Amino acid sequence: MESSTTESPDSQIATGKAVTENPASNQRQIRIFDTTLRDGEQSPGASMNLTEKLEVAHSLAELGVDIIEAGFPIASPGDFESVKQIAETIKGSTICGLARCNDKDILRAAEALENAESARIHVFLATSAIHREFKLRMTPDEIVSRAVAGVKLAASKCGDVEFSPEDACRTEHDFLCRVVEAAIDAGATTINVPDTVGYVTTEEIYKIFQMLRNRVPNMDKAVLSTHCHDDLGMAVANSLAAVAAGAGQIECTINGIGERAGNAALEEVVMAMQTRRDFYDCTTRINTKRLVPVSRLVSKVTGINVQRNKAIVGRNAFAHESGIHQDGMLKERSTYEIMSPEEVGFAKTDLVLGKHSGRAALADRAKTLGFDLSGEELQKVFDQFKILADKKKEIYDGDIVALVQQQITTSEDQTWELVDYEVTSAKGKTPCVKLTLSDGGENKSVEVTDGDGPIDAAFWAVEQITGVKLVCKDFRVRSATLGRDAIGEVNLEVEHNGRLYRGMGVSTDSVESTILAMLNAINRIASGG
Ligand code: KIV
Ligand code: ZN
Repeated sequence: MESSTTESPDSQIATGKAVTENPASNQRQIRIFDTTLRDGEQSPGASMNLTEKLEVAHSLAELGVDIIEAGFPIASPGDFESVKQIAETIKGSTICGLARCNDKDILRAAEALENAESARIHVFLATSAIHREFKLRMTPDEIVSRAVAGVKLAASKCGDVEFSPEDACRTEHDFLCRVVEAAIDAGATTINVPDTVGYVTTEEIYKIFQMLRNRVPNMDKAVLSTHCHDDLGMAVANSLAAVAAGAGQIECTINGIGERAGNAALEEVVMAMQTRRDFYDCTTRINTKRLVPVSRLVSKVTGINVQRNKAIVGRNAFAHESGIHQDGMLKERSTYEIMSPEEVGFAKTDLVLGKHSGRAALADRAKTLGFDLSGEELQKVFDQFKILADKKKEIYDGDIVALVQQQITTSEDQTWELVDYEVTSAKGKTPCVKLTLSDGGENKSVEVTDGDGPIDAAFWAVEQITGVKLVCKDFRVRSATLGRDAIGEVNLEVEHNGRLYRGMGVSTDSVESTILAMLNAINRIASGG
């Protein structure tokens, strides 16, 4: 890319909708379109239940995301319901629903969005030769007329319509220009240019955006948007190259989760534009102090933790290990720090709560950590907090995150609940578990002497009572905080009838965490999600 890597981005961006002026700074305001709840949820094993999706949607609105892609309403009744509920509840962000380019999908999306304060229908249709020939078996003319019909129908239902030529970055340029021009004429107000398979280089994407701005005659009537996948690890760099070439919207996800290797990470594109404002010359509406809390929330509800060295939100992102660096930091922070941890929402201290702390202190701390608790939900977490405070003197942030998460993941469709258990285990002896579970209020008990350890025995016992057969694909135990009395958090991934489900459980006793995690997964299976 000749100009984007060496000089300030093109300031001659086409006027019109592609550029939203930020009155305070005269800089372009780039729209942040978050697709954590749609593309992000397509990460294998990352499915979220309704309560979790609502919690994430609230946090995204609070973060200042312009558009929240809440789901794909035609995909399942659960997806429809979550888009509908998010549309009915969330204010301050536009709520978007995805639809393929056909009447049924588009009408279903419109129905899910009908009560939104501000709604967008996102219609997509593949345009590359590979997709046209092998997936759709449609000619270029057929693609254009299908795209036009879909956008027209969406525009008759909603004033805000986004069109995505799927696999745009591998589409022949002449044909891409033709489809984009036709979609804008049909009423599309945003044109998203996905790199569906994460294939393009930064130089190529820069040229594609420049080419569209130069060659599509009505391009100034729509916002140009970028949507990059990370198969070659270039999603963030490519999104920023697209912005440098005139994109007015970035599609991204929290922690970069998404189909296959994921999407561009929201926290990275936002902080790159903020930290290098001198270069990109643009702003966003994002309240960057909420980035770490939202990242934590998404990790918790998806079970996908970010790696320690993850940019912006990883535990090591602001840790300085080498003596030379520490010395430099003590003398002048900017020697080795280009942003401050507080700017992205890392708390200054790991505040300690204890058994004398009240509900308000707990709610306040939970809020700083990314969780908005009130009413019944706050009361339930507070009850658990008091039980924990009796077992352990000091309650750390990690403990609170674990308790809140346990509450969020178990608050819906709880068929199975743990009533009691007893485990006996000794070196060289087969362990024994006595377990009582409640099945929608009715107690059921078993005694199992089996397995090669207490955890394995607990698995057998839960399977025997519930009758649900699980293949364990992943089992992780971690301590939520420091200290021997820390909460143990179990995260499970299990397969049932060919589908992956997650479960998490927390307790100071790891056998209990395991049983709770299994029940969490089994309750998800029972509720279809
Ligand atoms: O990657 C992709 O092409 C998509 C479209 C639906 C926009 O996610
Ligand atoms: Zn995608």
